[in-house]
Amino acid sequence: MLHDNYGINEKGHLTVGGADTVALAEKYGTPLYILDEDRVRLKCRQYKAAMEKYLPKGSMPFYASKALSFVGIYKIIAEEGLGSDIVSSGEMYAAKKAGFPMKNTCFHGNNKTDEDIENGLDAGVGYFVVDNREELLALGEAARRRGVVQDILLRITPGIDPHTFAAVNTGRVDSKFGSPIATGAAENIVALALSTAGVRLCGYHCHIGSQIFEADPFLRAAGIMVAFSADIKNKYGFSPAVLNLGGGFGVRYYEGQDEPDITEMIRLIAEKLSSECKASGIEPPAVFMEPGRSIVGAAGVTVYTVGSVKEIPGFRSYVSVDGGMPDNPRYALYSSVYTALIANKASLPCTDEYTVAGRCCESGDLIGERMRMQSAVRGDKLAVLVTGAYNHSMASNYNKLPVPPVVTVSGGVDRLAVRRQSLDDLIKNELTEN
Ligand code: LLP
Repeated sequence: MLHDNYGINEKGHLTVGGADTVALAEKYGTPLYILDEDRVRLKCRQYKAAMEKYLPKGSMPFYASKALSFVGIYKIIAEEGLGSDIVSSGEMYAAKKAGFPMKNTCFHGNNKTDEDIENGLDAGVGYFVVDNREELLALGEAARRRGVVQDILLRITPGIDPHTFAAVNTGRVDSKFGSPIATGAAENIVALALSTAGVRLCGYHCHIGSQIFEADPFLRAAGIMVAFSADIKNKYGFSPAVLNLGGGFGVRYYEGQDEPDITEMIRLIAEKLSSECKASGIEPPAVFMEPGRSIVGAAGVTVYTVGSVKEIPGFRSYVSVDGGMPDNPRYALYSSVYTALIANKASLPCTDEYTVAGRCCESGDLIGERMRMQSAVRGDKLAVLVTGAYNHSMASNYNKLPVPPVVTVSGGVDRLAVRRQSLDDLIKNELTEN
């Protein structure tokens, strides 16, 4: 069923990681995010093993925690020996609270504030991934004031189009991220970094986009980054110790959609890097990768309770659930296609077609349109699969709806990892006396 961590038990209920999603919904209430911790660990191990096997010494995966960020996940990631990509002082704070080894972090962001820079230096992040000239100068100055030298990677835009949806396409020259090679900005920022005191240039970073299924865009990016490295080495004598290729491996959201094999993708990238480095005479750098979606995506399931079931004859049938765009904005934002089913009727045939609507006051609040599933009635538990990535982390309080809890399951045991927001949580920063 879509991914091998999903199943149906003897009661005919949907399971994830062996846990009964209907029982969890009854225990914790709905909407509910469930995260299969064993699946997260399995994916971490796949990345780690393949990178150790095929790539030069020092290569390692950094979990892109923007995909799903809460204190508990940084503990899991640390236990699995991955680093983490963090993108804000908030993610940094959560990682620190988890006791995450901050030297194993890459600090991202195209517009780090002065406060972010100070926080990153305080925390001792491993690498600042410097996006632009202004950040480079501000970081150099802040580091010099402290008498420290900060390791950095430079975010470079290779100028390729991986043909994913526009909002998550970051490799093209016209991007808010990084310095493009094509315009000469990349070379200029390298020259500036090499002459800026307070920073030590360790290498380059590129991230071409997300939800990418073919190896080809990654291979092209790798080739372009090696050619750039060779050009810089010839002109400035600098050779990168690290090449960070970002994240982006796609995940299957619906039947029939392919999913790249992580190990095979890494083998192909390693082969390409090795031959390109040999051809251009540069020492193969250690490779970092930053998987987010492919670590946590399929580990997640969201369970809702069905409210109304409304047929509009000649048009369609709507099922409304007790969540919606505040806990999963991805259909509203990207028209992302999901698979849904009635968790308490999972063994029955999918005879019906529904547009799954949320409970917010706007028509665009949909989880998906014309989704095939079992016949639904009020009180049923409706599960949406593959919601581990970019759901909880993108949740909002629109319509003053509380963010649902996250429950992790491992070896059949469930644990509350993030509690449901209370109504008091929703107004706790609001100054009632003013
Ligand atoms: N590294 C960098 C620098 C990134 O910007 C990202 C994702 C990743 C790694 C992880 O990429 P992944 O392996 O997850 O594809 N909210 C969108 C996705 C935005 C991706 C942002 N950057 C969505 O829901 O599809």
